[in-house]
Amino acid sequence: MKILAIGDIFGRVGRDAVFEYLEHAKGDYDFIIANGENAAHGRGLSKPVYEELVSAGIDAFTLGNHAWGCPDISTIMHYNENIVRPANFEGDVFGVGSTVLTAKNGVKIGIINLIGRIYMPQQASSPFYTADAEIEKIKNKCDMIIVDFHAEATSEKLALGYYLDGRVSVIFGTHTHVQTADAKVLPNGTGYISDLGMTGPAVSVLGVDKSIIVDRFLGGIPKKFAVANGNPQFCGAVFEVDENTKKAVNITRIYEEF
Ligand SMILES: [Fe+2]
Ligand SMILES: [Fe+2]
Repeated sequence: MKILAIGDIFGRVGRDAVFEYLEHAKGDYDFIIANGENAAHGRGLSKPVYEELVSAGIDAFTLGNHAWGCPDISTIMHYNENIVRPANFEGDVFGVGSTVLTAKNGVKIGIINLIGRIYMPQQASSPFYTADAEIEKIKNKCDMIIVDFHAEATSEKLALGYYLDGRVSVIFGTHTHVQTADAKVLPNGTGYISDLGMTGPAVSVLGVDKSIIVDRFLGGIPKKFAVANGNPQFCGAVFEVDENTKKAVNITRIYEEF
């Protein structure tokens, strides 16, 4: 079976890229999952934006450090089971860190979202031990598991990949907005990539207007972030998973500019 994973969708430009790509391609995939933490103006996921992306063909959403960027996220999480936030957020937070959904071919897919602790701003407990607990929670309810590890450091991402190798079918990284060239099947059959990259404005610094970020590095008074305009890029990866063994057999990166 084929699973499409889409990297952090950034603002209107990113959403347009999703529609453009999925218009002809969505029939090729049994399941489509996307990181939606930047989908609404670069910060968070709002109800109208969530509904728009569901209509484009996305089956499941993960989040990250911008999970709480839109106030109506709690309403979306309350009424829809196809959205997860990092399971290892500390404190009293709403929503769930894992869920089970049914793919178009009938396979039951468990989804787990985790956040890293290296160079990340928020309090989070161990993604490693939280992964153990979440896998334990859902493994008897699903046929296979997909993990989105929203993290900055490639070392932390790779370490979690090897820690979960053979226990989940797919683990992809998100958050850096820059796609890595290390897609591979790990020794025990887990499909892995350190980062899917960003689906958003192609000429930008991680989705933000490039001049604002360049000015920040030059010093002076910082300007408010603004989503960049211009042509979009679509970033993600296609994971081919054997339906019998639930092991990944192939990964193809997608990096397209429209
Ligand atoms: Fe992001
Ligand atoms: Fe992030």
